[in-house]
Amino acid sequence: MDKMESLRAFACAVIAAACSTASAAGNPEAGEKKAAACIACHGPDGNSPALPEPAEPWPKLAGQLPEYMTKQLHDFKAGRRTNSQMSPQAQALAESDIPDIVAFFAKQKIKSNEPADKSVMAQGEKLFFSGKGRPEPVVACVGCHGLNGVGNKNWNKSLASLPAVLAPAIGGQHASYVARQLKAYRDGTRKNDASNTMRDIARRLTDKDIVAIAEYVASLPR
Ligand code: HEC
Ligand code: HEC
Repeated sequence: MDKMESLRAFACAVIAAACSTASAAGNPEAGEKKAAACIACHGPDGNSPALPEPAEPWPKLAGQLPEYMTKQLHDFKAGRRTNSQMSPQAQALAESDIPDIVAFFAKQKIKSNEPADKSVMAQGEKLFFSGKGRPEPVVACVGCHGLNGVGNKNWNKSLASLPAVLAPAIGGQHASYVARQLKAYRDGTRKNDASNTMRDIARRLTDKDIVAIAEYVASLPR
């Protein structure tokens, strides 16, 4: 532990409230070096290469909310979210390196995608801004994930309890990754969403809805 870190740990111990702010603000320069193992899959600037199907997609991390990345890394570490590629990576990661690494990826700029199928964009846009009516009502994605899918670290200020209100940035993400996560929430293989937030939404989405919303979200600039 260097002097700065021990001072920070001391301040955290004294004022509990200062702790979350201090640990959320990592050092992106230090993080770039610590992220050496991550960039093989997630890209040197957090823009991972698109992999052809059926390869498992590597998500882009560029511009992602640091609070959300921290939650996911903790979930992978603890086994609340599992993935054969990512779980061992998170488990090997020192807790003290997480703030710097997520600060590095959060600072990068995401490159959004050209839609692969323009014919589904209108349906995707409708789902994003208006959700779906009966018989399987779905709330609009924009309400939580924000305009252009920029993410929102507190989409429901009246509840104000992380992590249930921590909606990640999804604009510009790979369509294949978005679709895969929605299917994983739908079939329950991803279940680290607090209060079932995404599982409740995804189980009301058809395969066609998922193709459309994934293409649309992937094209959003942010
Ligand atoms: C071998 C490839 C690989 C390496 C190396 C790797 N990851 Fe991942 N990572 C993945 C895959 C695949 C996923 C998506 C897992 C899933 O579908 O649930 C992922 C997911 C993530 C997520 C969640 C993204 C989201 O939007 O929910 C974060 C955060 C993350 N990785 C950070 C890291 C960090 C930090 C490192 C370096 C310590 C790292 N990864 C190294 C393959 C990798
Ligand atoms: C009520 C708020 C809310 C609404 C509405 C909502 N989401 Fe989410 N979404 C979340 C939260 C919270 C998470 C993070 C859950 C976790 O920690 O795993 C999330 C996660 C996701 C993820 C995973 C992102 C990643 O990087 O792995 C995708 C994809 C997603 N949502 C897409 C959508 C789509 C598409 C819609 C609209 C059909 C939608 N969401 C509507 C709150 C919401």
